[in-house]
Amino acid sequence: MGAMPEEIKGVIDLATDKKEFVFAGRTYYQGYINNTKVVIVISGWGKVSAAVTASTLIQTFGVSEIIFTGVAGAIHPALRIGDVVIGKRLVQHDMDARPLIPQFQIYSLQKIFMETHKDQLQKATTAVNNVLEHLDLEMIKDFCSQQPKLHIGDIASGDQFFSSQKQKENLLSHFPTILCVEMEGASVSQVCCEYDIPFTIIRTISDQADESSPTDFLAFIEHVAKYYAVEVVKQLLQ
Ligand code: ADE
Repeated sequence: MGAMPEEIKGVIDLATDKKEFVFAGRTYYQGYINNTKVVIVISGWGKVSAAVTASTLIQTFGVSEIIFTGVAGAIHPALRIGDVVIGKRLVQHDMDARPLIPQFQIYSLQKIFMETHKDQLQKATTAVNNVLEHLDLEMIKDFCSQQPKLHIGDIASGDQFFSSQKQKENLLSHFPTILCVEMEGASVSQVCCEYDIPFTIIRTISDQADESSPTDFLAFIEHVAKYYAVEVVKQLLQ
């Protein structure tokens, strides 16, 4: 699964024996990547789009796990454009039903953080390390000046594009451990937790979630995001 066509088109091209199905305006591509039966789909932006798509993957296609790849804005100061984050815990930073329940708590799950299973974390770590080891540094040289790194930790999701230092500081004041922000991961993880299936959320840093984000985000999406998604999927499904 991915939010944007620029990120996922290359993954669709990897699949063989493809059949297409359309539900609620989204095309689901069912096929095979390296002998693994897969369904590939572009969800669109935001938590609701991601939740509808994840539910369809589970209910209609019976998938046994979901892998989401995409981009994110950096929140932790150690992160650079081109780095990759594997979500260990996912949180919805815009969930707030106070004073009824604590801020950020998901009512149906009675928890704030959704955790990735150990097995998925381990497989994703091996896959991303292999991708970063063989990364074409020439291709990304306009975006990052140093060798990209892997980070494993907390990801926040919400229906907001972060484009100011103020938004960033506000998020960090609530969650000092957050590495990056995006708009779908914690929604996919909620659906997966509710259906009790594993999930993997992998995000490449496209921007610094500040005033420079709109420009950096669009350039990264156009030139680099696809490469990461394709290479990560190839490594995960070999
Ligand atoms: N995805 C990529 N960059 C982002 C940002 N700055 N805010 C939210 N989601 C993002």
